[in-house]
Amino acid sequence: MGEREQQTVLITGASRGFGKEAARLLASRGHRVIATMRNLEMLDEVRAGLEGQIEGLRLDVTDAKSVAAAVGQALARHGAIDAVVNNAGYGLFGPVEDVSEDEVSRQFNTNVFGTWRVCKALLPAMRERREGLIINVSSTGGRIAGPLMGMYSATKYAIEALTEALRYELIPYGIRVVCLEPGMYKSDWQTASLDVAEAVRAGRSAYAQRVEAQLTAFRARAQTRPGSFAVAAAIVEIVEHPKPPLRWPVGEDAMEILPLRLRSSDAEWEARMTQGPYFQVKE
Ligand SMILES: NC(=O)c1ccc[n+]([C@@H]2O[C@H](COP(=O)([O-])OP(=O)(O)OC[C@H]3O[C@@H](n4cnc5c(N)ncnc54)[C@H](OP(=O)(O)O)[C@@H]3O)[C@@H](O)[C@H]2O)c1
Repeated sequence: MGEREQQTVLITGASRGFGKEAARLLASRGHRVIATMRNLEMLDEVRAGLEGQIEGLRLDVTDAKSVAAAVGQALARHGAIDAVVNNAGYGLFGPVEDVSEDEVSRQFNTNVFGTWRVCKALLPAMRERREGLIINVSSTGGRIAGPLMGMYSATKYAIEALTEALRYELIPYGIRVVCLEPGMYKSDWQTASLDVAEAVRAGRSAYAQRVEAQLTAFRARAQTRPGSFAVAAAIVEIVEHPKPPLRWPVGEDAMEILPLRLRSSDAEWEARMTQGPYFQVKE
């Protein structure tokens, strides 16, 4: 890969899942990767065999000081960051009625405000160079909302809006902005990372049976899904694309469901949605 084609890419949430896989795939293609994570304990594993291409920095997207420090260090070391992948995020699972103020604040603080903080920190340098790429990781859940993922979907809908506005704001400055919309891929997202609402865990939810039915089906489906590699490959494609479009769905489920939703009326879509496990519970 020639010098001009080599990009310096900063990734948030690179300790696991999509972020880790994207860091490794970008590095294996000759890009320079700044793999940022809350806890650097995972770094050796993330860069095993690719130490020359991947460096690590501590970055917690919920902490503005940590974001400023990591971006400052990365810019001081490399002079410029060509692309950022705002990937850090997790899901809050539970009925809208049951999730607590703290749970919802943490969900928005990580997924939405975290993405915004990192953009804010990087944009002055990108704007000055009149060059750069921002990839914000949304989800099919950023276009379609279902039961029990309302707050997660609200964060991803917010990311869609923020990304779309940012894309227009930055066209005059030569900065490309893309929303990546993965379907379901097996990762810690559905298990260790999933924040099941405390009210549900503590047995205080009136929706307990529906949550159980939906969560069991959701986790069972995740087991049938591929791992993070396809999402990493999509991130590489976007990084190497001269003019990526605003939205980049990935996964055959996303490719099927997103156009189907667009073609369906609300009533048609509701008829489909109400076939799901949430609605099969008899109370
Ligand atoms: N998997 C899916 O099916 C799917 C589908 C569509 C969209 N997505 C989205 O894709 C992104 C990555 O998901 P994934 O499947 O790779 O999940 P994952 O395996 O659970 O990884 C999530 C990553 O986000 C990091 N993170 C969480 N909070 C953070 C914070 N405050 N600061 C910095 N990093 C933080 C985690 O770091 P720690 O190791 O420190 O916890 C971890 O590296 C998320 O935005 C998710 O919503 C996932």
